[in-house]
Amino acid sequence: MVGDGATQRVLLLAAGGGAAVLAYRLLIAGQSRPSAPSLALQHLTDLLALLYRAVSGGSGGGASDGGASSLLRVGEGLVDLIGNTPLIRIRSLSEETGCEILAKAEFLNPGGSVKDRVALQVIQEAVAEGRLRPGGLVTEGTVGSTGVSLAMCAAAFGCRAFIAMPDDAAIEKAQMLEALGAEVQRLRPVSITHPDHFVNVARRRAAAAEDGNSLFADQFETPANFRAHLKTGEEILRQTGGRLHAFVSGAGTGGTIAGVSAALKQRRPEVQVFLVDPPGSSLYNKVTRGVMYTREEAEGKRLRHPFDTITEGIGINRLTANFSRAKVDGAFKGSDREAVEMAQYLLRNEGLFVGSSAAMNCVGAVKVARALGSGHTIVTVLCDGGHRHLSKFHSPAYLAESGLTPEAAGRGLGFVE
Ligand SMILES: Cc1ncc(COP(=O)(O)O)c(C=O)c1O
Repeated sequence: MVGDGATQRVLLLAAGGGAAVLAYRLLIAGQSRPSAPSLALQHLTDLLALLYRAVSGGSGGGASDGGASSLLRVGEGLVDLIGNTPLIRIRSLSEETGCEILAKAEFLNPGGSVKDRVALQVIQEAVAEGRLRPGGLVTEGTVGSTGVSLAMCAAAFGCRAFIAMPDDAAIEKAQMLEALGAEVQRLRPVSITHPDHFVNVARRRAAAAEDGNSLFADQFETPANFRAHLKTGEEILRQTGGRLHAFVSGAGTGGTIAGVSAALKQRRPEVQVFLVDPPGSSLYNKVTRGVMYTREEAEGKRLRHPFDTITEGIGINRLTANFSRAKVDGAFKGSDREAVEMAQYLLRNEGLFVGSSAAMNCVGAVKVARALGSGHTIVTVLCDGGHRHLSKFHSPAYLAESGLTPEAAGRGLGFVE
């Protein structure tokens, strides 16, 4: 039971009032959208479950919880702010495509990105298994988002963070990490097979800790990443009432698409999962042809700079353990121009200020909508906000230098090829 009798009555009233208000708002919305009444019923079911948990003392627990009970109790600090993000309908994209385009608002996590989920899961599992204790060091090689999440989560568990990153990633990412108290090392980009690749530097740093109280987060390979996103997938199932036709996402480590696809297909095997892949990445070829290289490369004309995109965090030229777990039905390519135009589109039409991978995911959602035809529900992820991308993706000067100054206007989606 939660609290004393008076507290329980307040909780009941709060939950009941919330249910009534939400039901009313959803039924009003239902008059203009045919799919809303069924969604309203699903939300009512969720709220009744919430009410039940409030009075029966059901436990909460951040990303591991169904989410609803966290509205009614005092959370356990940072940990309870992670996950359970809202799923929002992107009205302009939905109306223009004739599909319901829904997106997980991952930029609302306390660290500002989807990577909070991974950092929390990796550290929680290590602490639970005795591999990490307060005072320990958490290390990672990352372009930044995971670093921010790890720096915050490490602090929440009484630990420190060391982050190695390539020196061509947006500078504000390194500045943010240092402000969060992490030790940062910026390194010249080299191949993953080189000992000075940022991932290898981070791995060695953890191994060098003499007291053994250290953890290499290893987001590309650790199954904790996948497990973190099984929860993301479960949230999507709950939030849509299982009524979705497709999920689309880019992949960096592959944790998101792997965990979400596994969770969705376990309960709804007919849901289709699509990858959207930026320029220079090999995953499109992996999904569509089963190999990591293009036809041109297979003929020996490997590009000198095979990996070159403005999108940060997605696209990769090796097969990670996490991507290997993904159950993907098809793939689309997305260009830098499409991502830049989409970011401006979302700002102009929705007031949504998103980062490059989130914009690319929305490009993917439009491509999936066109491929499936109208009337489908497509879910994607808004991985982070635009604030982390002010020096590149959201810099008019940088975009002009790169020949990517956005040109589209209004609500049309003609810029998506
Ligand atoms: C901002 C951002 N978006 C998307 C991704 C890709 O997600 P995943 O690693 O789960 O494939 C990353 C990964 O680093 C990221 O930093």
